[in-house]
Order: sequence, then structure tokens, then C-alpha cells
Amino acid sequence: MKVLILGANGFIGSHLSEAILAKTDWQIDAMDLTQDKISSCLSHPRFHFTQGDITQQKEWIREHLQQCDVVLPLVAIATPAMYVQAPLRVFELDFEANLDIVRQCVQYKKRIIFPSTSEVYGMCSDAEFDEETSPLVTGPIKNQRWIYSTSKQLLDRVIYAYGEHEGLSYTLFRPFNWYGPRLDNVFNPKPGGSRVLTQFIGNILRGEDINLVNGGSQQRCFTYIDDGIEALLRIIENKDNGAHNKIFNIGNPFENISIRQLAEMLQQFIVQHYPAYSEKAKAVQLLNVDAKNYYGDGYQDVALRVPAIRHAREHLGWEPRVDIATGLRRTLNYYLA
Ligand code: UGA
Repeated sequence: MKVLILGANGFIGSHLSEAILAKTDWQIDAMDLTQDKISSCLSHPRFHFTQGDITQQKEWIREHLQQCDVVLPLVAIATPAMYVQAPLRVFELDFEANLDIVRQCVQYKKRIIFPSTSEVYGMCSDAEFDEETSPLVTGPIKNQRWIYSTSKQLLDRVIYAYGEHEGLSYTLFRPFNWYGPRLDNVFNPKPGGSRVLTQFIGNILRGEDINLVNGGSQQRCFTYIDDGIEALLRIIENKDNGAHNKIFNIGNPFENISIRQLAEMLQQFIVQHYPAYSEKAKAVQLLNVDAKNYYGDGYQDVALRVPAIRHAREHLGWEPRVDIATGLRRTLNYYLA
């Protein structure tokens, strides 16, 4: 099998590349702008990497797409602050650039495994989000936070329609707050410059107080990257049966914690287990900040986001195994040890 991974140096792409090389005999063709997260893959004989921009290297993509069995287009902007600050860049990259890839998969009859997102459910009030029955609830247009959610949602709908009407073979997967080593850059000092976990680790490293947006009572189901990658490997393998033309939530409903709890756990773990940072962690205060002050106008939050995972259980035989304490320790070991 030959797998084409666009965005191989990203958080998901780098872990997926490593896992494919370690656990399978598949070939990987890969592209990304940078290569710092895939240094362990670069010299591997089954890893064929080209440095480049997917919005520019159209001929390379067309040529390699025709030669592969399955495509994973993983390039996207995925930090909420960017949805508010640069909504058109989110639309151009996450939607337009990826639509082009989707259409080539239709043209060349290639299987596509596409990252949808937990964000498509938006402010859905269901106690757990179901791929087939939950409504997708977003806010007014002036709240540009939803441009990511709706760009992804429209791509989901387009991919589904190509599946129904033009025979596209696809799987959509929806990560629910995947985290782990190589998530985002903890040295990015900008508030909102990275997703919450790496933001908080960076705050502690720099001796800054932690900002809890609107008090931090909003909850997320944090899902360790190894669990997510295991689901992806099963999706890639299950070409003809379990994963064909389906949508899967890939999240950990057992680890549903508030953002305040996340901050407290981090602080406590660092104080207990990482002596070099323990004094800094002790001094950090948890501050309540208003979302408008933190993200600016155009932000709106999600209070509760719990995945139903019965489809993944039934069709992929998958369920998450790594609890939050283990996952946080592994992540902290990567960033701090
Ligand atoms: C994320 C991102 O949109 C994507 O990475 C992804 O598609 C999806 O959800 C996912 O991973 O499931 P969100 O969970 O809101 O959205 O993003 P984070 O930046 O990780 O923030 C989580 C929560 O922490 C938010 O409620 C945010 O307001 C809060 N937060 C963030 C703080 O309280 N303080 C901070 O300094 C940063």
C-alpha cells in the first residue's frame, strides 16, 4: 500500500508517519513546509518526503496522488485564535486548498481519509455527539470562530455527496482534542497562539499566569495521540468494510474534564514530578479572563463536547486506552524532561 500524507510534519501527520513506518510495510509519500517533527522518518527507505507548500506544488500533488492508494490531506489551520484573526486564511487553506485535493481523488478514483473535526458539532446541546443524529450548531456570521467549523462541515458534505453521486471512497474522522508530544510550539508566547494544553505548558515555563477563558468551566474530552493514531491505522486498513464511506468520532469520552481542572492537574504534576520547573509552577495563578479580551470579538466557546464512539467501536473495534494522567505525563516528559 502507498499512502500519500499531505501535512506530514504536523501533529497528526508526524505521529501517523512514525506509526506507519513502525507497524506496517506501507510506503509513504509525504509533503510539508517543514520537517522538524519527522526527523526520525526522513532517512527511512519507505518514507519519501518532499519539502513544499501544497497550495503551490500542484503538479507534484497530482503526480503522487495518481500513484497512491489512499490520501490523507492533513494540512489545516487548527488554532481557534486564528479563526478569529485570519478567517480568510482558514477558508483558503482549510477549505479551498483541500477541496482541490478532494476533487482530484474523485477524478483519479482514489480513496480519501479526511480530517473533519469535533468543531463541526459547535454548540450542539446533545449530552454526547453522534455522527449520524446530532445537529451541527454554530453562531452568527460575525462570530468568525465558526469559519473553521463550517469550512470543515461543508467539506464533509461535499465529500459525502461525491461518495453518493460519483463513487468517491472516503472516511471522515473527527478528532476530539487530541493531544500529546509535538502538539504545538510551547515557545509561542502569543495568547491563543497554540491550543490550550501547549498554551498552559508554555505559560508555566515562562512563569506567566494561566488565563482561564470565561472561568474555565467549559469541558473537553482530551484524547491521547496514540489512541487517535491507532484509530487512523484501523481506518486505513479497513478499506472495503468497516471504514468505507463512514464518519467516525475519534475521542475519549472517559476523560471529560474542565479547562480549570486541566490547568490544576498540569500545575500539580509539574510541582510533583519536574523539580526544575516546580517553583515556577507553584507561583502560577489561575486567572479568570473574559473571552472577548482574550480572543477578541468574534469568539464564541463550546461548553461541552463529548463524543459518542459506538460507531468506532462497532466498525473499527476501537476504543481509547490512555487515561489523562498517563497522557499528560508523556506529554510533559516530551516538553520538559
Ligand atoms: C479545538 C480546535 O478548534 C482544533 O484544534 C480542533 O479541531 C478541535 O477543537 C479539537 O481538537 O477537537 P478548542 O477545544 O476550543 O477547539 O481549542 P483549544 O485552543 O484547545 O481550547 C480549549 C478551551 O480552552 C477553550 O474553551 C478555550 O477558550 C480555553 N482556553 C484556551 C483557555 O481557557 N485559556 C487559554 O489560554 C487557551
